[in-house]
Amino acid sequence: MIKEFLIGCCYYPEHWDETNMENDIIRIKDLGFNTVRMGEFSWSIFEKEEGCFDFSLLEKAVRLAEKNNLYVILGTPTAAPPRWLTERYPDVLCKNSDGIVMSHGSRQHHNHTSEVYLRFCARITEEMAKTFSRFKNVIGWQIDNELNCHRNESYAESDDIAFRKWLKDKYGNIEALNQAWGTCFWSLDFNDFSQIECPKRTTTHKNPSLVTDYYLFLSDSVINYATIQAKIIKKYMPNAFVTHNGYFANLDYKKLTDECLDLLSFDSYPMFFEQKGIANGRQAEYRLAQTRGCSEQFLILEQQSGPGGQLSYLLPTPVPGQIRLWTYQSILHGAVGVLYFRYRTALFGAEQLWYGIYDHDGEENYRSGEIRQITEEIRRVGNVFLKERKHADVAIYNDYHNDCRRKSEPFFEDDSRLIFNTLNGKNVSTDIVYNLDDLEKYKVIIIPHIAIADEMFEQKFQKFADNGGIVIISAKSGTKDKNANYLPIKNPGWFRNLTGCYVDWFTALPDNTKQFVEMDNKRYPAEIYCETLQIEGSSAVGYYTEGFCRDKIAMAKKGNVYYLGFFCKNSADVYYDIIAKHVNIATPLDKNLEEFAFGNYKMYLNHGDSAVKCSGYDLLCEKSFTEIPAYGVVMIGRE
Ligand code: GAL
Repeated sequence: MIKEFLIGCCYYPEHWDETNMENDIIRIKDLGFNTVRMGEFSWSIFEKEEGCFDFSLLEKAVRLAEKNNLYVILGTPTAAPPRWLTERYPDVLCKNSDGIVMSHGSRQHHNHTSEVYLRFCARITEEMAKTFSRFKNVIGWQIDNELNCHRNESYAESDDIAFRKWLKDKYGNIEALNQAWGTCFWSLDFNDFSQIECPKRTTTHKNPSLVTDYYLFLSDSVINYATIQAKIIKKYMPNAFVTHNGYFANLDYKKLTDECLDLLSFDSYPMFFEQKGIANGRQAEYRLAQTRGCSEQFLILEQQSGPGGQLSYLLPTPVPGQIRLWTYQSILHGAVGVLYFRYRTALFGAEQLWYGIYDHDGEENYRSGEIRQITEEIRRVGNVFLKERKHADVAIYNDYHNDCRRKSEPFFEDDSRLIFNTLNGKNVSTDIVYNLDDLEKYKVIIIPHIAIADEMFEQKFQKFADNGGIVIISAKSGTKDKNANYLPIKNPGWFRNLTGCYVDWFTALPDNTKQFVEMDNKRYPAEIYCETLQIEGSSAVGYYTEGFCRDKIAMAKKGNVYYLGFFCKNSADVYYDIIAKHVNIATPLDKNLEEFAFGNYKMYLNHGDSAVKCSGYDLLCEKSFTEIPAYGVVMIGRE
């Protein structure tokens, strides 16, 4: 889909005096960019009054971009409906779980299910697509902007109506729903679909099957909203790609990508993750792996290029080198294009403190200098990244259905991010995989607390293990049906035969409880919850060390399948040590150096704030080096 590495920035022509526009576009080109993203918040300019369309400002900007050989990615403006719309059709506004209407005055204040809103979105998208299909340099479209960013639940009347319809389609009749949800518990039976509402505030916990279905529904309603726009764009511009910038909660990005997009995109703001210190910039990599798991190719539509702030906060300023480091981080984790947010810092509005490449003054600064260096390098080597991608031997399985289940039963925290960070931080390249049919390219699959499963899961994991793959399954996996109800069998339910063990006792582990598991004379913390195991066809490979559980079995292994009867909260080293028994892991040159080997190249990213000694010839800067400076990046040829 993407055949040339895209490098660019976001530009908001509506924020600047029109007389600046030509100069701005020339300066964007002069930074070495080939792409500019525009349009995603300008609905009140495009349709000043209901039905009166005027795209002339954006057309002028697109034309100037064309004149300066810049590709354009346009955003549909539906994340910011105009005032006339919400005033005349107030039902489009979203409500929170207390029934409070979100008033006009910010953005994302609409719900995704209002038929009226869907109609207006379809119309503005159609008018825009029709208008801009004339421009050859418009190569792609972003649907809306960061769906589910500011609010990811919605409780408007239209949501109740849509939820009921969704449930009726799913269950057919109310008896089937009552049965599936177990509504006889606490007298929650429904007589009719009309009695069902989105799960608003209650005295205490709600029915978990209802909650699970609500989050599945929320995602489907957002996907429906996006699909309407995507189809219209494709009708007018079949060759342009359709994308969307994630990654937020309550949205099945794999389904969104498969059903509605050509490729997914991600907005990378590493400083959000790094507020407690700038020395370990690796946290964004989990999101990058999630995006990569959904989309073979992906773009970064917003890459942080300055200190970020939104009136009530201001994040630290990237020090020299960090923007370049983060750019290559995105690229090496799979991005085939990077657009910086944004060309110049706005003088007004809610994001006056969100700095782009240029400050308010618009003058050259060290950040624009750093960007020029990057674009020069990308001009020479950018297309290498289109062809080559670092291969991962390890994948963590997840799916959105299990995310929804976690919402309904939050006691069992998900430690997959911790597992990912531990492995990734120790030079184990790790993917996130969402599809049971995509396991074969890996050597190790981790199944972290995947409670909702069925026979298919067991068969796929068994086949993977029979073919030589290593499977690591952890506590509570395989214990529930698709309605988030427990199975009437011993844990690990669906996986008892696969793992060759069953749980004979368990306990919660509150924060002040110390429990450890010993494997090969090394101790690992067990946290949150632990199970003692009985083996039947497997062998014990780890034992608890404390209290009642002492010397009882914590880990079993049957053939290539490991079962870990506990959760991790602070350390996931046990996963690393199991993997290291089966996969060769190169020792990193330095703890702050992230290494990538792909095709004919090797690259090193120094995430630390001091230089690392090592030498070679750097293909990015085209000179020899004897150390990689703080936040430095080098690319060398591979023997
Ligand atoms: C993103 C959003 C942008 C802008 C940016 C900085 O989340 O897509 O529109 O708000 O953050 O806050």
